Amino acid sequence: MARRKKIYEGKAKTLYEGPEPGTIIQYFKDDATAFNAEKKAVIEGKGVLNNMLSEYFMTGLNTIGVPTHFIKRINMREQLVRACEIVPLEVIVRNYAAGTMAKRLGIEEGTQLPRPIVEYCLKDDALGDPLVTEEHIAAFGWASQQDMDDILSLALRVNDFMAGVMFGIGIKLVDFKIEIGRVYDGDFQRLIIADEISPDSCRLWDIETGRKLDKDVFRRDLGSLTDAYSEVANRLGIMPKGATPMARPTLIN
Ligand code: C5P
Repeated sequence: MARRKKIYEGKAKTLYEGPEPGTIIQYFKDDATAFNAEKKAVIEGKGVLNNMLSEYFMTGLNTIGVPTHFIKRINMREQLVRACEIVPLEVIVRNYAAGTMAKRLGIEEGTQLPRPIVEYCLKDDALGDPLVTEEHIAAFGWASQQDMDDILSLALRVNDFMAGVMFGIGIKLVDFKIEIGRVYDGDFQRLIIADEISPDSCRLWDIETGRKLDKDVFRRDLGSLTDAYSEVANRLGIMPKGATPMARPTLIN
């Protein structure tokens, strides 16, 4: 059996060469990390849940015309995605104050913001993904002005979509992070949503009770992470009957 080529191993996912040029297989691991990997655990079933949840959100975005790298889910832990060049920025959209923003600005967690606020962090683990301004981004050439206009528009469209989907299942979209990929179509380049959209990269609070249904459950030791993610999946109706997030993958070559 031919061994497939590993392209990159990240904290929560591994990327393998895809079956055709320009494609990649994204494998969702069970590893959970927080605080720039200072806190680590293996949480059985997390990869399966994030694979299904990210498929759901990316498919929805593709359907409403927000381009993403997602092509199709292959099995319980893997999806086929379009290869792209990752823009070295983490794009964060916030609707309510929480996490680092609440801390940095001394705003009480849960305070509704006057409008969605978009922040950019440099993707650099060694530096702890520092917050950067558009001045830094332009001066150091991490993205062009046209890219930044497109990134802002994509981020706000993802926010509208995700906030609506979450509201429909009784969940408040507090904030989230996306990554952006660059793809080339002939002479043209365009930007698409890459990586994943899952409770690992969003803050999701139950509207009624305030229960956290995202990675803060792990960061802050608030109980079972798989219970929280399963709750989101169940409300969306995407856990097939009888399916268990503990299922092992069927590897493809
Ligand atoms: O930690 P902070 O409050 O800045 O995070 C804002 C949002 O971005 C949260 O939903 C968090 O889960 C997400 N995030 C992420 N990956 C990072 C940093 C933040 O998914 N490296």
